[in-house]
Parts: sequence; C-alpha cells; structure tokens
Amino acid sequence: MKKDLKIAIIGAGSSYTPELIDGLIARSSQLPITEVRLVDIDEGWHKAEIILSLTRRMFEHAGLPVKVILTQDRKEALTDVDFVCSQFRVGCLDARIRDERISLKYGMLGQETNGLGGFAKAQRSIPATLDICRDIEKYSPNAWLLNFTNPSGMVTEAVLRHTKVKTVGLCNVPVLMQKGMAQVLNAEEQDVFVQVAGLNHFIFARQVNYQGEDKMDYALEEFLNDNQAFNPKNIPSLKWPRKLLANRHQIPCPYLRYYFSSDDTYQKSVHEAETEGTRGEVVKALEEKLFEIYSNPDLYVKPKELEGRGGQYYSDAACDLMSAIYNDKRTLMHVNTRNNGTIAGLPDDCAVEVTSVITKSGPMPLNVAPFDPDTLAMLQLMKTFERFTIDAAVNGDYQSALRALTLNPLVKNGKVLEAALDETIRENIQYMPQFQAYYEANLK
Ligand code: G6P
Repeated sequence: MKKDLKIAIIGAGSSYTPELIDGLIARSSQLPITEVRLVDIDEGWHKAEIILSLTRRMFEHAGLPVKVILTQDRKEALTDVDFVCSQFRVGCLDARIRDERISLKYGMLGQETNGLGGFAKAQRSIPATLDICRDIEKYSPNAWLLNFTNPSGMVTEAVLRHTKVKTVGLCNVPVLMQKGMAQVLNAEEQDVFVQVAGLNHFIFARQVNYQGEDKMDYALEEFLNDNQAFNPKNIPSLKWPRKLLANRHQIPCPYLRYYFSSDDTYQKSVHEAETEGTRGEVVKALEEKLFEIYSNPDLYVKPKELEGRGGQYYSDAACDLMSAIYNDKRTLMHVNTRNNGTIAGLPDDCAVEVTSVITKSGPMPLNVAPFDPDTLAMLQLMKTFERFTIDAAVNGDYQSALRALTLNPLVKNGKVLEAALDETIRENIQYMPQFQAYYEANLK
C-alpha cells in the first residue's frame, strides 16, 4: 500500500478547513499523509494564508511531519496527488448573499442550495469544477475527487457524466441524521443502522434499525414531536406537517422543510432578511470572527466556534471516506455516487445520495426499496430540474435554464422568472462564462 499520501484541498481559505485538518490528524494512523497542498485564488488568498499558518501549527502540535504548502498553481497542487478535496465557493459569500437577495426580491425563498439560489450556485460551481477536473485528468488521473463543493449532488453528477475523474460527493446532512437517530434512540452511533436514499439535500431515512429491531416508526414519531436531533444550524427548525408525514415509514432530511413547508420557510427567510440578515450575511459575520480566532498564533486546534456553521461534521465524513477508500475498509457511508439502478425510476447515470459500502474501488450502494409514488414523483421532478441545471451549466443554454427553473417548486415562472434569471446572470457573469453569449446579446 502506498505509504506517502498527498492531499490537495481546493478552496483552502474555507473556514471549514481546520475541521478537515483535525480529521486528518485524528486518522493519522490510518492515513500516512506526507503532504497537504492548500489551493486558493486571489479572492480567498488572505484567508488561505491564515489557514496555512494554522494548519502548520496543528500538524506540528500533533507531532506529524506533514509538508504543507499554499499555492494558486493547479499543476503544482495536482501533480501526483492521491486525494483532492473540493470545498470552494465561487464568488465567495458575497455571491451567496446576492443569490439570497435576488430570490427574495422576486418573492422567492432565498437559499444557498435550493430554489433559484441553488441553481445559481450550480452555474458557478460546475464550470469551475470541470476545469479543475481537466487538470486532475492531466496531472493525477488516478486521484479521487472528494467533492463537497455545493450543490454537492449536481456537481458530483456533472463530474461523473462529463469527466473521467473518480469522484464521490459528500454532505454532512446524512451524518447529522445518523448521529441524530442514535441520540433519539439513546444508543451508541455505531450500534444504529441508518439507510438513507434520495438526492443531495433531498434525502429520506429509509431504514432505522437498532439491535435487530426496526425503529423507524419510533424515530419518525420523535421527529414529528419536534425533536431537533438532526437539524443543522442553517435550516429553520419549524414544526413538520404531521398529517402529511406520519406513518410513512420514512424520515425526510431537514432540507425538505423547504418543500413540505414552503410558505412557512419562505416567510421565515423574509423575516430573517429584514432582521438579523440572510443566512449568508449571518455566516459572513461569523466567518470574520472565526478568522480572527484562526489568526491567533497560540491556536493549534479546531475552535469550538466552528460548530456555529451548518456544515458541521462533513470533514469527518471526508476523512472517513478517504480512509475507507485508501484502506479498502468496506464500511457503510452515505455518499453521492452513480445511481446505476440503485433508486428505481431515476436515470442510471445520475448522482444519487445513498448509503453505500465504501471499497478501494469506491462506493457500492445498498439496494433501496421502492419509494411510495408521491415521494418518487418528487425525486423525479427534482432530478429533472438538476439535469437541466447541469446542462445549462455545461453549455450555457438559456432555455435549459428556464426549463430547469420552471420545474423547481420553490421558483416562480413566467415573466418573473425571466427577470430573476436575467438579473442572476447579469450579477454573476464573471463567474458564469457559459452565459457570455446570452449576456452579450440580451443583457449588456
Ligand atoms: C448544511 C449543508 C451544507 C451547507 C451548510 C451551510 O448543513 O449540508 O451543504 O453548505 O450546511 O451552512 P452555513 O453555516 O454556511 O449556512
């Protein structure tokens, strides 16, 4: 087995990076890492330099002789590398805030990965990711791309369908659900078997077993009784519609509040935007505090304040995945991977988020029992939205963008949609090269 692993982290200026480094240090006996290559661009450089110093202090304090570099040169970063962790945010938090505010301006939910905001984020993330994949194909064709750049499911599908790069998509939501179930059952996490299935930020727990017993109905009841055990910080903890969800023998992930309680979550996002600010604005303030803390030369661990972010634990998932692939562990993890018939009724070549056995050759999804007709219909609708969104991101086709957004239940249609889409393209044109021709012809 290769004894000197090299990891590249793209989007190193992210405030989540210390959690990733912490995860690598905690697994140093499983992952013989000799080099970490932090990668970022001018926009995130100042933060990336702070992360570089903190990362070196963390490895030094752990007594691990890991070489840490920071570079903008992708050839330097991606040559002869084993794992590439992708966690970048094109346009930084300002782009997220713009998405939230544009959606609200047109009377729609303003959210990072859902509705018009999710579409816009895909239009920025996918072209940049495919560009990076061309370098991975050139400089480290055998490397694994562990993607948690959002929208993670759509980005993973674009890589699966448009590149030769080996990739797995990650999200912390199923990790939170796994931990939450153990809490609800008052059990050790590793003793509870949870199967999830669906799309990224659109999954359902389909099985919850403990000591050989099916505990789904008990957990569902707890969940409907307002148990917030698995609600991330960024999603409003509104009451679930019991009459719709009771006795369905499945548990929706917290993001499904946007679909099952659309008006309540929309009203909440309007209220937040008028009071404490949109989630992106709240996170921007939190990030400033985090980077003050990270700049402290005496700090050499991941600070507790990082738990204020919604993406808690996804670095754990990333490090577990790296170790499971590198060590051929055949452990169960909830990941985004090729469908290949795992969820009947969705295309084979699409990305689904499912519980899988992780091997050296990647994820092997567990079989998923058929969904009930209305859940499957929602999954098919959202997958069709995702595929038109990916097509628009890959070829800049305005009609594909309209067809995607017209399908999305959180997005208005008709004239309002065209106005909102045009404003989204105009405000993001430097990050959406695929729409340059449309912009020149219609928006300039
Ligand atoms: C979630 C998601 C991530 C998302 C994050 C937002 O839990 O799974 O995909 O990016 O939280 O958290 P934030 O603190 O940025 O609002």
